[in-house]
Amino acid sequence: MTSPDDVNKAPAKAPAKAPAKAPAKAPANAPANAPAKAPAKDPWDLPDVSGLVVGVLGGTGDQGRGLAYRLAKAGQKVIIGSRNAERAQGAAAEIGLGVEGADNAECARRSDIVIVAVPWDGHAKTLESLRDDLAGKLVVDCVNPLGFDKQGAYALKPEEGSAAQQAAALLPESRVTAAFHHLSAVLLSDPEIDEIDTDVMVLGEVRADTDLVQALAGRIPGMRGVFAGRLRNAHQVESLVANLISVNRRYKAHAGLRVTDV
Ligand SMILES: NC(=O)c1ccc[n+]([C@@H]2O[C@H](COP(=O)([O-])OP(=O)(O)OC[C@H]3O[C@@H](n4cnc5c(N)ncnc54)[C@H](OP(=O)(O)O)[C@@H]3O)[C@@H](O)[C@H]2O)c1
Repeated sequence: MTSPDDVNKAPAKAPAKAPAKAPAKAPANAPANAPAKAPAKDPWDLPDVSGLVVGVLGGTGDQGRGLAYRLAKAGQKVIIGSRNAERAQGAAAEIGLGVEGADNAECARRSDIVIVAVPWDGHAKTLESLRDDLAGKLVVDCVNPLGFDKQGAYALKPEEGSAAQQAAALLPESRVTAAFHHLSAVLLSDPEIDEIDTDVMVLGEVRADTDLVQALAGRIPGMRGVFAGRLRNAHQVESLVANLISVNRRYKAHAGLRVTDV
């Protein structure tokens, strides 16, 4: 089995496949002096995000705290956001590692990448109120719209298609992506665990943006960001958490996901 470490060194694997797809010369029917097409970009050639500030809206909760801890531990500058600045500062102080706390608006303004980790119930209202603060920012939505009844968790169907599409509709001046849906907050927060053995599906409309989010996921040891399509396909990624909750209940686990053959 491939270890999380091996997977994290993904760029080393990419050349095995990349050259086969790169057209070395112009097509046969092209004029003799036509310039050769540029080789396809290596999909594992990701940007350096180590200098970017990451904000986490709702960062006082389990998921936000866990992500803040892991990213700060990896050396990222992190600001936790909350509806209450003092609550955010308290959570930041508990984590340490240079993490700061602020109200959600300040968190958004001071960050380059802003992870949305609030409950589905408060999603629309939170984003509407932060529209100006989030303008120009790379927003990463990790919200899973789920309902719970006696039979367990089930996927809700947002009017816009998904939480991520709702975010994109509410934040026309932001660059909205979706990722980090399938993580276990329990594992993220456990200081005894060094590596988080999982892939992170990253969705979005613009490659430069999804590359940044993939790179951010890759900062956490064991984790790898994998491009998984446009936002119109976010619904099934968000919904899959209902299945993972069933897996966790049956096997008493904190299940993650791996995408094979990439
Ligand atoms: N928990 C997981 O394992 C996990 C994994 C993947 C994805 N997610 C997603 O991440 C999001 C957060 O999950 P969580 O378990 O961390 O949730 P949570 O603890 O219930 O809430 C996170 C934070 O959001 C703020 N909040 C609560 N209600 C709010 C509202 N109505 N409007 C605005 N802010 C509100 C609270 O912070 P303040 O009171 O300080 O503002 C709270 O600490 C969810 O959408 C979930 O689907 C969770």
